[in-house]
Amino acid sequence: MSNEQPTKMWSGRFREPLNQQFESWQRSFPFDYRLLPQEVAASRAHARAIAAAGILTPQELTTMLAGLDRVLAETTLHPSLATENPNAEDIHHFTELLLTQQIGDLALKLHTGRSRNEQIATDMRLFVRDSIDTTIAGLRQWAQALIDLATAAGEAVMPSYTHLQRAEPVLIAHWLLAYVSMIERDCSRLEDARRRGNFCPLGSGAIAGATLALDRNIAAHTLGFIAPTPNSMDATSDRDFMLDFTQALSTLGLHISRFAEEITLHATAEFGFLDLPEAFSTGSSAMPQKKNPDLTELIRGKSARLLGAATTLSVLIKGLPLAYNKDLQEGQEPVFDAADTIAGMLSVLPQFTRALKFREDRMRIAATTGYLNAMAAATYLSNKGVPFRKAHEIIGNAVRLGLESGRELNDIPLTELQPLSPAFAEDFYASITVEATLDCHDVLGGTARRRVAEALASAKVRLTSHG
Ligand code: ARG
Repeated sequence: MSNEQPTKMWSGRFREPLNQQFESWQRSFPFDYRLLPQEVAASRAHARAIAAAGILTPQELTTMLAGLDRVLAETTLHPSLATENPNAEDIHHFTELLLTQQIGDLALKLHTGRSRNEQIATDMRLFVRDSIDTTIAGLRQWAQALIDLATAAGEAVMPSYTHLQRAEPVLIAHWLLAYVSMIERDCSRLEDARRRGNFCPLGSGAIAGATLALDRNIAAHTLGFIAPTPNSMDATSDRDFMLDFTQALSTLGLHISRFAEEITLHATAEFGFLDLPEAFSTGSSAMPQKKNPDLTELIRGKSARLLGAATTLSVLIKGLPLAYNKDLQEGQEPVFDAADTIAGMLSVLPQFTRALKFREDRMRIAATTGYLNAMAAATYLSNKGVPFRKAHEIIGNAVRLGLESGRELNDIPLTELQPLSPAFAEDFYASITVEATLDCHDVLGGTARRRVAEALASAKVRLTSHG
């Protein structure tokens, strides 16, 4: 055996060279190069653990930690790393090669008592943990933008929809706060995922546990994990933390795409509820008059990728025998793609949201025509003692009368209403104004003006208390 470092981390038992096509095809370095910060952090933690076990002297530990820091500092993370380092099979191999350049053969002691199977599991947990933190920070910014927009909208109204048919007037702020509620659930899902995944696989070895009596708490605590994972077979093959992360992102993507779809609809000439901000819209090369909602369309489209990532991971894990299998390497790219996709979406959404300008006049007209006060009218009758079922029928007849004569409920005089029910009186008209229609929903979570003001205030408090 030569004294040179073998080109593979596992070549000892092999006599034949690897098929060239297979070799380049099976490499993960073209995508896992981006795990260098995590690989270095995990290697530093492992170095401390093996030093505590007597494998490294204190001096060797110092040299190794400094060498690892230099590897990170002197490497620019870029996809070209893979072509520049064709020998590097994966991020673990690459780091070892670079560390050897920095500190010589001492680098080869780092792999004592560890396996790439626990390393990749650890690196990915660290990556996911960071991505969760970035995503939550981005979501908070978007929630803040929605809250600011809701504050600016004051008591401006819009129609709400069920079946995409106009239903009842609501405050614009109430509608915007619906998305804040979704974001809060998304943050809570991501926080749950973070908590569940925040355990350290280091010390699990290839499958059965490290071959050294390592104190696993050293690495776990150095890396900010809650504790070491409890079972080595699970730890080396578990990818639930990636699944939790991408599933939370896919749900988040569903929410963002609903927002994107509503904005897209509202910006049509048919709705005319808002003018798209020019800074976030594009023109048509063919039709000079067009201003297209590319941002919201792309958001809608990109949420499909988030869902795709979660699906890929589920299918990957299904039926996989314990413990590590190379299939698991395929789980990295969907996670990277999902993390990049959500980061991109959240890099534009808060600013876009802040730039939205509602056409409050048009929204008000849409909210005050088309009998959106019919439920308030039926409530008026039921407050007068008419059973609601009957009140519903009577107002239905009044609506029919209005439809046939081109009038809103408030345009129909008492002389025509009273034959439908003697309960109609002069105060009817005050009870079906848009303000009264809003305020009759005076329940927690309803669109009554004071309830929305309270909801807005408490959303602000929740957001700042988390910040
Ligand atoms: N690149 C590999 C992966 O992502 C690292 C683990 C390799 N382990 C092994 N036994 N081949 O899964």
